[in-house]
Amino acid sequence: MRSKISIIGAGNVGASVAQCCLLKNLGTVVMLDAVENVAKGKALDMSHAAALHDQLFSVSGTSDYADTSGSEVVIITAGRARKPGMSRNDLLKINAAIVDDVTRKVVKHSPDAILIVITNPLDAMSQVAWKASGLDHRRVIGLSGLLDSSRLRYYIAEATGAGPHTVTGLTMGEHGDSMAVLTRLATVGGVPATKLLSAEKLAEIRYRTAHGGGEVVDLMGCSAYYAPGIAATAMAEAILSDSHTTYPCSVYMTGQYGVDGIYMCVPIRLGACGVEDIIELELTDNEKNQIAETARHIRGLLKELEE
Ligand code: APR
Repeated sequence: MRSKISIIGAGNVGASVAQCCLLKNLGTVVMLDAVENVAKGKALDMSHAAALHDQLFSVSGTSDYADTSGSEVVIITAGRARKPGMSRNDLLKINAAIVDDVTRKVVKHSPDAILIVITNPLDAMSQVAWKASGLDHRRVIGLSGLLDSSRLRYYIAEATGAGPHTVTGLTMGEHGDSMAVLTRLATVGGVPATKLLSAEKLAEIRYRTAHGGGEVVDLMGCSAYYAPGIAATAMAEAILSDSHTTYPCSVYMTGQYGVDGIYMCVPIRLGACGVEDIIELELTDNEKNQIAETARHIRGLLKELEE
């Protein structure tokens, strides 16, 4: 079956997602941007490489939402990105207006799509997109934990000398400084990371994971896009292949972990209908406190949005 993936915002993140989707042959890719020629130019550049990597599907650029019609997956990256010194939250009101607007247009043309939100601040923007979409909350999902836990897995791999793919790890809560980085549950080849690394090293890894995006911004002068591109593509693949994969994602909470009525990152099962279920883990008191704190932080942002 031919799938259609539309990407709203053809900036650094949008283009990175598009290229990953093409490399994986997930389906036809449409990149939409307010600046039409940027989307068209990037699509042409990617098309010029199609012969070199057995690309099966086409990619196009547009600023017309009609061209996104009938998409199975729509990935929202439109918005402003962070500059050095800016937090994700500095983008709150500007990006909320953009996400609200683009989501309404997307859903008009693709009412059966599943939406993956990448625009920051992620958890609040996922909530804005869900409200604007009118869709069941299971069909609007934020990219957060898959990226954050990949950063965690990299730092543990770096510290132990293991291959990153042999490391497991989980982050929960906000896609931001208050996230809960659950090093207690991380493993290296099945061995608890707590057996291999000192408490001090694990604390350092938790800090670098939570601030990994900021570290990239400080180095490059713009926000990350290679890792977000691959992470969003993995989510799209799980949806399009109905793989029931367990990934940490930002989803609408309905009482799990004591949190209700906001988007927040938790482990979920992801398939063709979107969020199949939220997996509830036994947490320590300290971890429960962290979840409560990170949920408070997300609620604070949503309150700011209402003011
Ligand atoms: N409609 C369509 N496209 C838009 C709109 C809009 N209303 N507003 C902005 N855009 C486009 C811009 O023209 C730009 O091409 O969104 C793109 C954003 O690209 P970049 O500035 O390169 O930002 P990027 O690094 O891709 O980050 C996008 O993802 O990870 C998050 O924090 C990041 O919120 C940011 C988003």
